[in-house]
Amino acid sequence: MLHNVIILLFIYFQAGNMNHEKVMLHDSDLIRPGKPWMDVDNRPINAHGGGFLIHEDTVWWYGEIKDGETWEPESIREWNGSRVEAKGINCYWSVDLINWKLAGNVLKAIEHDSAHDLHSSKVLERPKVIFNDKTGKFVMWLHIDSQDYSYSRAGVAISDSPRGPFKYIESIRPNGQMSRDQTLFKDDDGRAYHIYASEENMTMHVSRLSDDYLSPSGEYKRIFIDRHREAPAFFKHDGKYFAITSGCTGWDPNPAEYAVTDDIMGEWKVMGDPCIGDTRGTTFDSQGTYVLPFSGKYIFMADRWQRLDLENSTYVWLPMEIENDKIHIKWYDQWSLNQ
Ligand code: GAL
Repeated sequence: MLHNVIILLFIYFQAGNMNHEKVMLHDSDLIRPGKPWMDVDNRPINAHGGGFLIHEDTVWWYGEIKDGETWEPESIREWNGSRVEAKGINCYWSVDLINWKLAGNVLKAIEHDSAHDLHSSKVLERPKVIFNDKTGKFVMWLHIDSQDYSYSRAGVAISDSPRGPFKYIESIRPNGQMSRDQTLFKDDDGRAYHIYASEENMTMHVSRLSDDYLSPSGEYKRIFIDRHREAPAFFKHDGKYFAITSGCTGWDPNPAEYAVTDDIMGEWKVMGDPCIGDTRGTTFDSQGTYVLPFSGKYIFMADRWQRLDLENSTYVWLPMEIENDKIHIKWYDQWSLNQ
């Protein structure tokens, strides 16, 4: 009861800060993995391959807009590829991780210039945002690709506010290397890392960013060499760094694998599949995108892709148990942050 009152007050004051937008409360505090999830305006949350940022007690969720018809382009049929027209990157905010309000499309796709990285024919995936304490800017990195995924670049965009809009700067091949599925990790010392599937998805790179987070510093480490991993989610717990990744089977799910290290730019120890009771070996029919530490818990966040109906893909969020260097992820039909 008291908890609900506190959340209500929080949302009331946040709503005040947000130009008095109306925020309606969800009827429960339960997270239901894989089930359709409505925002506070009763529209399906549309933010796939998402990245999360906690800034001044508000949680910001950035994700791919999957909207409209899904089709299978000839150029990617060989690996069962499918796509929707790119629309941009949605941003939602919440204070309780249950009730989400759309802040808007913060990096819009471009209609008229087909050569532009953000043209609607391109692939805009896995956006992640971190805050730079020195510059006071919010920096987004995302996967930019051509329809056949041969462009394999990382795009960078910047904003003065977590609610955007983000100003697109450019795309690069970090350290001269291919970059597809990607994430960001900001360490306690303010150093930030861009982690991307490289070398035709065979090997991942951990690339330290420059002090302003807008370009690679030049220092990078090849990890999971020839292991063919993607969908990276990196986090830190008790001084250890953890990585959860997926295998490379397009939109179809496969077993997750995690790894641990004391030094993010050092040697990683591969530990195996963190999922317990996942009899089909499909990460509970999902593919990871982020791990969010929130309210004393670590939440594994993943996408349950619908390959032929991408806009109806759902989200699988599960609480993780961490014991020394081991991670366990179990299935719950529904669970509460307070349990
Ligand atoms: C997956 C990747 C997704 C998306 C998809 C396209 O392997 O993790 O982000 O790129 O392929 O088929």
